[in-house]
Amino acid sequence: MSAGDGDGASPKPRPAGPCALIIFGAAGDLTRRLLLPSLYNLAREGLLSERFAVIGVARAPLGRDEFIAQVRRGMPEVKTGAAVDWLVSRLHYVQLDFNEQAGYGRLATELEDADRTHGTAGNYLFYLATAPEYFLEVTERLGSEGLLNQTNGRWRRIVVEKPFGHNLGSARELNRGLSRIAGEEQVYRIDHYLGKETVQNILVLRFANGIFEPVWNRRYVEHVQITVAETVGVELRGGYYDHTGALRDMVPNHLLQLLTLTAMEPPSSFSPAALQNEQVKVLGAIPPLGARECGLCAVRAQYTTGALDGGPVPGYREEPRVAPDSETETYVAMKLAIDNWRWAGVPFYIRTGKRLTARNTEVVIQFRKAPLTLFRTASVTLPSANRLHIHIQPEENISLQFAAKVPGPTVTVRPVEMRFCYRDYFGRENRTGYETLLYDAMIGDASLFKRGEMIEAGWSVVEPLLQAWEQPLTPLSLYPAGSAGPEAANQLLRRDGYEWMPLK
Ligand code: BG6
Repeated sequence: MSAGDGDGASPKPRPAGPCALIIFGAAGDLTRRLLLPSLYNLAREGLLSERFAVIGVARAPLGRDEFIAQVRRGMPEVKTGAAVDWLVSRLHYVQLDFNEQAGYGRLATELEDADRTHGTAGNYLFYLATAPEYFLEVTERLGSEGLLNQTNGRWRRIVVEKPFGHNLGSARELNRGLSRIAGEEQVYRIDHYLGKETVQNILVLRFANGIFEPVWNRRYVEHVQITVAETVGVELRGGYYDHTGALRDMVPNHLLQLLTLTAMEPPSSFSPAALQNEQVKVLGAIPPLGARECGLCAVRAQYTTGALDGGPVPGYREEPRVAPDSETETYVAMKLAIDNWRWAGVPFYIRTGKRLTARNTEVVIQFRKAPLTLFRTASVTLPSANRLHIHIQPEENISLQFAAKVPGPTVTVRPVEMRFCYRDYFGRENRTGYETLLYDAMIGDASLFKRGEMIEAGWSVVEPLLQAWEQPLTPLSLYPAGSAGPEAANQLLRRDGYEWMPLK
C-alpha cells in the first residue's frame, strides 16, 4: 500500500519485479481458495512480472502435471483464459517433508532452474501457508540451505501466516526464533484483514477527510462497537479450532486490527513503522484486564444446535474433529477501555462469533446525543444518537445516521441515513483480499504486514483472559446456531445502557 497523491485518477501500479513465490503448504485450503486465485487476479491485472514463477511445496507425492491439474480444479471459474495459462506455465512443484533437510536441497535446485528458465533473478518470496508448528522449522531449514541470504542485490522474504503463536510467550519465542535466522525486514507477518480494501479505507476515511478528525474523540464519541459475525461454523477445521477458540483465532489479530485503525493517532507518514508505532501505542493504552474484569467485561460462548438459512445446523460439539464435551468458545464479546487522552472513558465493545444469524463485519462509532431535546413535544421516534457505520463485509459501505423531519404540518422526527456504497463508485471487484498483500510483499512494501512488536502487543491484550479462561469452571454461555449470540453478551452492553447493533 502506498499513498497516491489522490487527484481522483488512481495511478496504475507497476508490475512487481522478477521473483519466485514459493508456497509451503501448496496442497492446502488457503493456497487453493485464496493464494492461487489472488495470483490469477494479479496476472489478469498485469501486476506480476513477466519473470515470475510459483513453486508449490508440500508433502504429497505429486508430479508437476498433477499439481497443475489440482490447481485448475481448485479454480473452476477460471479454468481457461490467457491469464490462467500464463500462470500455469510458471507453476512448479517440489515434494518435501518440512522437517527433512534433503528436500530443501531439491528446492534450491528447482529455484536455480526457475532463475534460468523464468528469469526470476534469485529473488524469493517464501510463503508459509503450513500448520503453525512448522513456521520456525521451515524458516530454520531455509536458512541452513542458504536460501535466506540476501547477497548481490537479491532479496529473500518470508510471509508468515496466522496464528502467530498461541499466546504471548509462544509469539515472543517465534519472533525470537525468526530473528535469529532472518532480518526483521525479511519477515512479513500477515493479517488478511489488512488486505481488505474497506479496512484500509478506515485510514483514508479518518485521515484524508477534514470533517471526522475533530469529532473523533471522547468529547463527541459515546462508544464504539466492532463486530465480526460469521454464519459459517468450523467447517473442516475442527481439529485446529478446538485447540484455538474464538478468542485466539480472531481477537489479537483481526479485531484488534480494526480497533487500532479506528482508535490510533494520525501517523506521521504511511510508512510501516509510523503506522504500527501508532497502533502499538493504542494496544499499550488498553489497561490489562484484572481478575474481576475478566469475569465482568468478557463473555465466552459456544453454539448449540440451531437453524440457519432455513435448515438445521449441528451444535459445535457435533462438528467433525471437535471433542464431544468441548469447552472451547466459538463466540467472544469484550468491553475494552483505551486509557489515553483521546479515548479515556469511551468503551470499545468488540464481538465475534461463528454460526451467527448473519455475516457482518463492521465498526460503528456512536456519537453523543444532542445536548437538548428541543423536540420534546414533537411526535418523535426519538432521535437516536448519530452513528457512523463502517460496513466492511459482506456489504461494503459507509453510512451516517442522523435525525430528519418527516415532511408534513407537524414536527415529526425520524432517524435517516446517508450512505456511500463502494460498488456505486468503484464497481464490484472480485478480489480475495490477498492480492494487495502478495503484491506488496513482492515489491517490498511492509505497511500492511505486522511487525513482531505489534503481534506481541495484541497477545498482551488477551493474555489475562487466556489465563483466566484456563481455570476450571469458567462459565461458558450457549447460543443456538443462527441466533445473534448469547444473552450474556447483550447484558454486557445493557449494563452500560446500550444495545448491540442488530446483525443483518
Ligand atoms: C481467519 C480465521 O483468520 O479469519 C477464521 O481463522 C475466520 O476462523 C476468518 O473464519 C474470517 O475471515 P473473513 O475474511 O471471512 O472475515
